[in-house]
Amino acid sequence: MKKVMFLIASLLTVFSVSTMANDDVHKFASNEDCKACHTQIYEEFSGSMHVHSTPQKDPIHKAVWDKHPAKNKKEQYGCGKCHTPAADNLDKMLNKGEKAMPVMSNKTHQEGISCAYCHRIEAIELHKKSNTNIISKKEKNYFGTKKKHINSPFHGIVTDGNEHMQNGNVCIGCHSHKKNKYGLNVCSTNIDNTLDKANCVSCHMPKVDGSVSNLNKTDKHTFHGFPGAHSNLDMLEKYVDIKVKKDSKGFKVNLQNHSSHSLLLHPLRLAVLKVSVISGEKTTKLKDETFARVIGKDGKPAMPWVADKTLRDNMLQANENRTLKYDHKLKKGDRVDVTLGWFLVNPKVLKPLKLKDVEVATKFNIFKKESFNF
Ligand code: HEC
Ligand code: HEC
Ligand code: HEC
Ligand code: HEC
Ligand code: HEC
Repeated sequence: MKKVMFLIASLLTVFSVSTMANDDVHKFASNEDCKACHTQIYEEFSGSMHVHSTPQKDPIHKAVWDKHPAKNKKEQYGCGKCHTPAADNLDKMLNKGEKAMPVMSNKTHQEGISCAYCHRIEAIELHKKSNTNIISKKEKNYFGTKKKHINSPFHGIVTDGNEHMQNGNVCIGCHSHKKNKYGLNVCSTNIDNTLDKANCVSCHMPKVDGSVSNLNKTDKHTFHGFPGAHSNLDMLEKYVDIKVKKDSKGFKVNLQNHSSHSLLLHPLRLAVLKVSVISGEKTTKLKDETFARVIGKDGKPAMPWVADKTLRDNMLQANENRTLKYDHKLKKGDRVDVTLGWFLVNPKVLKPLKLKDVEVATKFNIFKKESFNF
């Protein structure tokens, strides 16, 4: 009798341990839980696209999702793998044949790429279509990089085997590439950086003033507002140099991209270079140069799930040095104003995406503006 009990007991343990392990992978402390002790980091994070990655919070994402066959036919939000990875029903969102949509009323669907999710990424599995994050099973044990830290009353801190938190690998589970069923890479970035010691984390998570936590004052902490195409553009402008040189025919504008990936990554984007010459009282606006990567099918632009080719790509590439010529002669005393910026959504697709009246999609974002005197 005793023996049987033991067997049942151990079976029960095995059973409960394994189901608990499964459950834990989809159970994350909420962002709100970090606020009391990591106030500044929490506030920066609250303004980032990582919290606004859901259809309910990102109108651009919603506009594309609204057109997607998986929404209209399958009612299954496969995008959840990267856009709502902390959802309590992520398995259903990803298992073929099930129905699972992100909703406003479920808090876990609106946490975005949450604090606890990102800090529990243990490893990255490399795959053809898109990579997969392996989440540690310990619910409140977070990967960190600070070798010298005090203990946290709320969670454990893991600083062994944490290279991925420093070298940018933690980002490539979602950002490396996303291929569609035709093998077309819809969006991708590059982990191999040529700029000395730079990587996703050093460029997109710089050190800024303010404390890591309220319990142990430090001068600096890692910025968690994730500067990118939507916000905090000024924090990245130093990675693109603009130069203007006069020559016999007119002048040249030189753009040097120091980042390890194309200036913009998503095929929705349209970057624009605006150049004007100010000569005394007169301002002459020269022709805009535009940069984009257009994807499509049968020679026409198409949605990411239909496209099978890159039709045109003149986006500023990783580490590219591009020279643009202007045949406008400069006189002594002239000033050349150069503005580099972008529309998050190419104005050509605003109408089909029903985004014509949505400010974030229609506004021109200024990335860098410089004046040159001759
Ligand atoms: C493999 C991970 C992954 C999957 C799966 C994924 N995305 Fe994304 N998505 C990203 C990343 C990373 C970005 C940010 C890219 C950037 O800013 O260049 C992004 C950005 C976007 C944007 C731009 C949003 C904006 O505000 O400008 C749209 C639109 C979008 N995704 C739509 C979708 C849709 C619709 C699905 C599902 C059908 C989906 N994505 C599935 C990773 C993914
Ligand atoms: C997209 C992934 C990601 C998300 C989301 C994220 N972090 Fe981080 N966090 C990191 C990385 C990577 C580092 C290490 C940066 C370094 O070494 O410079 C870090 C560092 C930290 C640090 C310690 C180091 C320091 O100097 O500041 C704390 C504390 C922290 N994060 C808390 C949070 C909290 C709280 C949130 C949510 C409000 C959050 N993180 C969201 C990736 C993330
Ligand atoms: C009760 C206070 C408290 C709460 C709540 C809290 N933390 Fe912390 N956390 C700390 C302290 C204290 C440290 C150590 C700071 C130091 O030594 O400078 C820390 C450090 C960290 C580190 C950095 C480890 C390192 O050394 O790089 C990460 C990552 C982290 N916390 C994530 C989180 C996340 C994510 C949440 C919310 C889910 C959270 N913390 C909630 C107190 C807290
Ligand atoms: C779980 C998936 C996931 C991980 C891990 C992740 N991201 Fe993201 N990231 C996204 C998605 C999805 C978006 C697009 C959200 C949107 O626009 O709706 C995004 C957007 C961004 C943006 C664009 C912000 C903007 O203003 O346009 C930057 C920059 C970024 N991530 C950097 C990072 C860095 C750096 C890391 C690693 C420390 C990281 N991400 C890790 C999914 C992820
Ligand atoms: C040398 C600095 C540098 C490195 C390294 C770098 N980036 Fe960037 N990143 C930039 C610059 C500059 C931009 C364009 C300016 C902006 O978006 O504000 C940018 C833009 C982005 C965007 C927004 C693109 C869009 O179309 O919405 C994402 C997402 C992003 N980077 C993710 C990453 C990831 C992930 C890595 C690592 C694999 C990485 N970056 C490495 C500098 C860098």
